[in-house]
Amino acid sequence: MSVDDDTGPASNAFDRHLLHYGRDFLDALIVRAEGSYIHTQDGRAILDFSSGQMCATIGHNHPRIVEAMAQAGRTVLHLDSTMLSPDVVELAERLCALLPSSLNKVQFLNTGGEANEAAIRLAKIATGRFEVIGMAGSWHGTTTGAASATYAHGRKNYGPAMPGSLAIPAPHGYRCPIRHCNGSCDMTCLDAGFDMIDATSVGAEAALIVEPIQSAGGIVVPPDGYFKRLREHCDRRGILLIFDEAQTGLGRVGELFGFEGEDVVPDILTLSKTLGGGLPLSAVVASETVAAKGREGGFAHYTSHASDPLTATVGLAVIDVILGDNLVERAKSLGARLKDRLLELQRRHEAIGDVRGKGLLLGVEIVADRETREPGHDLIATFTDRCFALGLNINRVGGPHSVWRIAPPLTITEGEIDQAIGIIDQALTEATG
Ligand SMILES: Cc1ncc(COP(=O)(O)O)c(C=O)c1O
Repeated sequence: MSVDDDTGPASNAFDRHLLHYGRDFLDALIVRAEGSYIHTQDGRAILDFSSGQMCATIGHNHPRIVEAMAQAGRTVLHLDSTMLSPDVVELAERLCALLPSSLNKVQFLNTGGEANEAAIRLAKIATGRFEVIGMAGSWHGTTTGAASATYAHGRKNYGPAMPGSLAIPAPHGYRCPIRHCNGSCDMTCLDAGFDMIDATSVGAEAALIVEPIQSAGGIVVPPDGYFKRLREHCDRRGILLIFDEAQTGLGRVGELFGFEGEDVVPDILTLSKTLGGGLPLSAVVASETVAAKGREGGFAHYTSHASDPLTATVGLAVIDVILGDNLVERAKSLGARLKDRLLELQRRHEAIGDVRGKGLLLGVEIVADRETREPGHDLIATFTDRCFALGLNINRVGGPHSVWRIAPPLTITEGEIDQAIGIIDQALTEATG
């Protein structure tokens, strides 16, 4: 049945039998996706500045992904989880070769939540402890362990989180969580956060899980030196450090991994969204030491699709394209260009309170008042709808704040960036004069 048969969102065809799992569905069906664009059933091309659900970093329906899927179809799609295909072995080797030498044991799963769940379970087995520290504003997934360490939203009304769930504030330069800094973060929140951990922990801290740049939390970029200090706090207490690079991994931030340049290597790294380029592929990469302790302790984390050959073949194609087409460099240079253009818009539009982020993971915070930094919820809703009507899809993040997450595919062209900036400019001008 066509959506056109219906009168509006409340009664349209997809509301009839699809269970709502979050925000309202878009009131248009998407029939094709290619490169930086998605195409609606009624023939509109929309520039996708959220890369699908932040996964299509090499562009929608990249021919190499399509070819890899066909190749897997001709060879092997799925196996018993104890059986490996050559591509699974090769993908593990390729990933480890890209990472610091201490990170050298990989398990392939499907979603980001699953990978974080496995990382947390592995950390518990490896340390013999159970407390897990997350950051306020974090998002790690909706399975129980990952959700218990998630503080952005979705926490209410599901009953108790996992026992031992602890949190520290996120280093938000624009909105200091302890009302101490203004405009930059001096990391007092980190030390104060660990004072609270010491006060509330029952002495069984297993791991701390963190995104190198908090995404759902509103594109929160920690100051230089933050992760080094975080690592020191963890080391002092025997806490394993897990980096969740669902969004930052594999090039988006202008480095291959978000932790690069931080002089810190995690004990466990999780990759997801960007690894499959739109197909469900995630990875847990652990240090030899953690993996060995996990094995000794009987770490068991089977799923029906662990080590699936299909997605491994796709993962190899994604890595080939990212490296072969220099997409990491591209994210850095085009990200700088896009950020400059957004900063230029900020100079002309009062509603843009802040522009932040790295590479092609940028945040634009919309405010009702620049002085007080009051969130501009109504404004961002109006702007976002107008941008979509003009042909640009942008996601809103930031929980209680109103932030645009600007994250086009790394294959975006300069012309497409100009098109997006023109649309944002027009939407802001029309709404605010
Ligand atoms: C940083 C981060 N980790 C984990 C997840 C969960 O991934 P998935 O939705 O694939 O379970 C997300 C999803 O948005 C994420 O942004």
